[in-house]
Amino acid sequence: MNAIQKLTMMSCAVLTCGTVWGGEVKQLPKPVTTGGMPVMDAINTRASGRLYDANKPVDDQTLSEVLWAAWGVNTQGKRTIPTARNQQNMKLYLLTPTGTWYYDGPKNCLEKVNDENLIPLTATQEFVKDAPIHLLYVAKDDMWGRCHVGSAYQNVYLYAASKGLSTVIRGLIDVDALTAKLGLTGGERAIAHQTLGWPEK
Ligand SMILES: Cc1cc2nc3c(=O)[nH]c(=O)nc-3n(C[C@H](O)[C@H](O)[C@H](O)COP(=O)(O)O)c2cc1C
Repeated sequence: MNAIQKLTMMSCAVLTCGTVWGGEVKQLPKPVTTGGMPVMDAINTRASGRLYDANKPVDDQTLSEVLWAAWGVNTQGKRTIPTARNQQNMKLYLLTPTGTWYYDGPKNCLEKVNDENLIPLTATQEFVKDAPIHLLYVAKDDMWGRCHVGSAYQNVYLYAASKGLSTVIRGLIDVDALTAKLGLTGGERAIAHQTLGWPEK
C-alpha cells in the first residue's frame, strides 16, 4: 500500500469514527455474522482456557468478530447482548502493549484512548503475558452493570468455542488502578478482563 492509499484509509477511518486521542482510529473489518458452530455445540464445548500460543497472533477479522460478539450491533439493530432498560452503557476496551483502544460497536472501529500499556495492571497470573488479546470490560459497578459484563463475556466464550480459540474471564485485576488510568467517573469501574488467543499446541 502506498502513502496516499494509507492516508486515504486513515481519513476514511477518522471520518467514520470521529477524531479521538491523537486522531488514531482503526476501522475494523466487517464481522462475519453468519455461520459458525451450532449454538448447542458451542454451549456444550465452552470452557475456560489459559494456555495460549504466544507466537500466533489473532488476525483483525477474528478480532472484529470477538468484539462484535461481546458488544457489537446485530442485523436487528440491537446490541449483541441485552442491557437493563436498554441503557447500552457497558464499555469495552482492547488493551495492547502500545496503548488502550475503545471499541465503538455501532461504528465497528477502535479509537485509541491512550498510549499506555495497561496489561501489567491485569497480569496477576503468569499466563496473562502470553495472551495476544486482552479485553477489559467497564460498566457501572452495580448489579445490572455486572450482568451486562457477564452476558458479553459469555458471548465471547461461545464465539471462542465455535472458532477453536481459547479464552478466560478474569476478576483478578487491579480494579482501582485501571479505573483511575481510564479516567472513569460516574460510578463506572473496570469490572473484568478477558484473555483470548489460539490455544497452545
Ligand atoms: C466472575 C468470574 C471471575 C473469574 N476470575 C478468574 C480469574 O481471575 N482468573 C482465572 O484464571 N479464572 C477466572 N475465572 C474463570 C473460572 O475460574 C472458571 O470459569 C471456572 O474455573 C470454571 O471453569 P470453566 O469456565 O472451564 O467451566 C473467573 C470466572 C468468573 C465467572
